[in-house]
Amino acid sequence: RPLSATLQVYFHVISEDSTPGGGNIPDDQIRKQMNVLNSDFSSATVTWNLVNITRTVNSDWFSNALPNTPEQTLMKATLRQGGPNDLNVYTVAFRPGVAGLGAPSSILGYATFPSDYHKKPSDDGVVILFSSLPDGATPHYNHGRTMTHEVGHWCGLYHTFQNGCEGEGDHVADTNAEASSAQGCPAGRDTCKQPGEDPIHNYMDYTYDTCMNSFTPGQIQRMSEQLRTYRGLS
Ligand code: ARG
Ligand code: ZN
Ligand code: CA
Repeated sequence: RPLSATLQVYFHVISEDSTPGGGNIPDDQIRKQMNVLNSDFSSATVTWNLVNITRTVNSDWFSNALPNTPEQTLMKATLRQGGPNDLNVYTVAFRPGVAGLGAPSSILGYATFPSDYHKKPSDDGVVILFSSLPDGATPHYNHGRTMTHEVGHWCGLYHTFQNGCEGEGDHVADTNAEASSAQGCPAGRDTCKQPGEDPIHNYMDYTYDTCMNSFTPGQIQRMSEQLRTYRGLS
């Protein structure tokens, strides 16, 4: 049974100062990001409705809210709104060290899975690099597909290369097996002996934003099941 749902989105902008370069991205970029998300999820018949945008200046969270850190736990505990089927998204810099002086960002984003909601509801959500939004400053990853990819995880999808060529793969039957993540936008990549080329245009691979264009019907079905089972959607 296909899902037909509108989910509410709470967008939390974390910055080190009041400038766009310091993370205080303008509303306009957030609107463009929501448009990308809605267009990428249109085949999944999920609509994402932006409820509000909060803005917080906190250079510690901005730089250090990486997975499993006290900074991310406190940031989310302070700002998260809604219940299991409400999406909270946080934009940060992932620049550990002194704000502004740390290494360039090592990751683009991370997310919690539906099945983990019960463990710690306040941790639920998606954290993304602020410069990955449309018109952002990160080359090849500034068309908004980082949010699409992370929201795919938040809806219960694994990477297309999960478990490599073996066994259950990503638990979706119509994503061809893939030995490892694909980078850039390779032509004719085929890393497993099972039939079919690697799903490098799938949102759940690691290719460039402009290389990604689809979820498969099997992924869409898995998302509906996961959202129904763990996020209480009907
Ligand atoms: N590497 C990140 C993750 O595993 C996100 C990848 C996003 N890819 C992109 N083209 N924006 O969650
Ligand atoms: Zn991922
Ligand atoms: Ca193959």
